[in-house]
Amino acid sequence: MSAKKNLRVLSGIQPSGALHLGNYFGMMARMIKYQEENELFCFIANYHAMTTLPNSQTLSSNTFNAACDFLALGLDPEKSTFWVQSDVPQVTELTWILSSHASVGLMDRATSYKDKIARGIKPNMGLYSYPVLMAADILLFDSQIVPVGKDQKQHLEMTRDMAIRFNNTFGETLIVPEPDIEKVSQLVPGIDGQKMSKSYNNTIPIFDIEKKIRKKIMKIVTDTTDVDEPKDKNTPLFQIYSLFLDHAGQNELASRYDGKGLQYGYIKQELFEKVMDHFGPFRDKRDQLQSNPTQVYEILNSGAKKAQSVANEVLDRVRSASGINY
Ligand code: ADP
Ligand code: TRP
Repeated sequence: MSAKKNLRVLSGIQPSGALHLGNYFGMMARMIKYQEENELFCFIANYHAMTTLPNSQTLSSNTFNAACDFLALGLDPEKSTFWVQSDVPQVTELTWILSSHASVGLMDRATSYKDKIARGIKPNMGLYSYPVLMAADILLFDSQIVPVGKDQKQHLEMTRDMAIRFNNTFGETLIVPEPDIEKVSQLVPGIDGQKMSKSYNNTIPIFDIEKKIRKKIMKIVTDTTDVDEPKDKNTPLFQIYSLFLDHAGQNELASRYDGKGLQYGYIKQELFEKVMDHFGPFRDKRDQLQSNPTQVYEILNSGAKKAQSVANEVLDRVRSASGINY
């Protein structure tokens, strides 16, 4: 008999583009670690990605690729529950129920919505109520811990708000989850210095071909400080490189930045080698999955079944509490 796992940990990722170092360090690596001691629920948020990705072919291939990435990096479908969001459509019913109790004022405060609009994304109702769908994702599985990057903090606060409000109205029904935001790290910067994001075209992907990864790394913005002057460490190249170093390695890099003779081109080449070394061991597995779609679909299918059985139980509780079960 397997030992009881401590907590139910859940998170999701949008298949809105190729997964990148920000996704890896902000969320994926931590999720994969969590599965050893906890009951891990992990899904590909394809309903969410629809809000900004109106291309059917791209959405479906990104969804498959994101699943391959996660599995290649070590997400173990035997230990965890791993599925595609739309294969558990119960989440849309909970979204509707929560929508009827979520205030418009709460949605209006969502900074991620405002950021997306500011970047020229056309507002649609899905984008506006994105946080309600996200709350439903979390609450439908009685999640206790939700590991995400810093940019998702507000969405988790909104989820807690919706759960508390529902419980106050109908009695204790929903588990109020705790966010788990990487304490030390800031958001991983992209090659242009902004937050690395699939929608900013500034990412370093985890599993692209070598040549393309190298090209991206060579494009990381740097300054024109003279080679013998100390360099600014609050910069994307330093920050990204640091992610691959232990404490001693980070100190050593910092003293190279403080000293003379540091050339950004060398540092970029070293970073490229670190990236290839770090993800190299997972590449074969990634290729094997990519060329065996049936195997991947089977894994996702059985994950969806496991997820559905939990979802049905929670939804039944919500239906009874709210009067939908008549
Ligand atoms: P993207 O912005 O690339 O579309 P998502 O919104 O799908 O990424 O994020 C998936 C997960 O990865 C979330 O938990 C998010 O907080 C995390 N994440 C995304 N970008 C970064 C980043 N630059 N630094 C740290 N974590 C990130
Ligand atoms: N909104 C999250 C992001 O962009 C993805 C997501 C959807 C999610 N549903 C979730 C994360 C539930 C955690 C829990 O990163």
